[in-house]
Amino acid sequence: MIYFLDTADAAAIARLCDLYPIAGVTTNPTLVAREKRPFPDVIRDIRAVIGDGAMLHVQVTGRDAETMVTEAKKLADLVGAGFHPKVPVTAEGIKAIRRLAGLGFRVTATAVVAPQQALMAAVAGAAFVAPYVNRLDMIGGDGARVVADIVHLCRVHDLGTKVLAASFKTVQQVHAVAMAGGQSVTLPPDMLEALLRHPLTDSGLAGFAADWAAAYGEGVTTLDLI
Ligand code: E4P
Repeated sequence: MIYFLDTADAAAIARLCDLYPIAGVTTNPTLVAREKRPFPDVIRDIRAVIGDGAMLHVQVTGRDAETMVTEAKKLADLVGAGFHPKVPVTAEGIKAIRRLAGLGFRVTATAVVAPQQALMAAVAGAAFVAPYVNRLDMIGGDGARVVADIVHLCRVHDLGTKVLAASFKTVQQVHAVAMAGGQSVTLPPDMLEALLRHPLTDSGLAGFAADWAAAYGEGVTTLDLI
């Protein structure tokens, strides 16, 4: 499993990258706009906290392939090594993915909600495809099923494309994607933190701490005793 953070909040990224095995960051126009700061500053701040070379996925905003390709080329200078242009799975987007893949870009096909969109993007040369799990679940779809189908299609058609599952609102959705073989997930900060949260873990640790403190003193660690 490859974990990404799905946010443009550099402070949250810095805090969570210190704790968790995060491979990179994904953004989208909504997440960047939420920062209410100049776009280049948002991207530079994220790069500064994740370090040179870590994966940083930034979405193009043009509607036609020509603009998307030009955007990706300029974004590459801004983002640096580890840049992944996110390109939507429209017809123009597929054209852009083909061109960008031919130029050596590691493209992430985004706004994927159907396995055939993912297959087309994979054949066009996308390195990652990003199915939106919660958005599907919210309208009675099955996001994890879509992920499973994409994983299967890429395998049987011998495509090296990886799933970068996106749009999560529950731990169960992340679990279902992991069980379906999705190779990576991108999670907002609160979702990443929710993966570890469990009341039985909390109560178990509280019991250990109380027993230990009763025997050896409050705040004492093994370091004080060996
Ligand atoms: C990632 O590519 C998507 O932009 C993002 O995960 C969508 O998440 P949302 O459905 O919570 O907005």
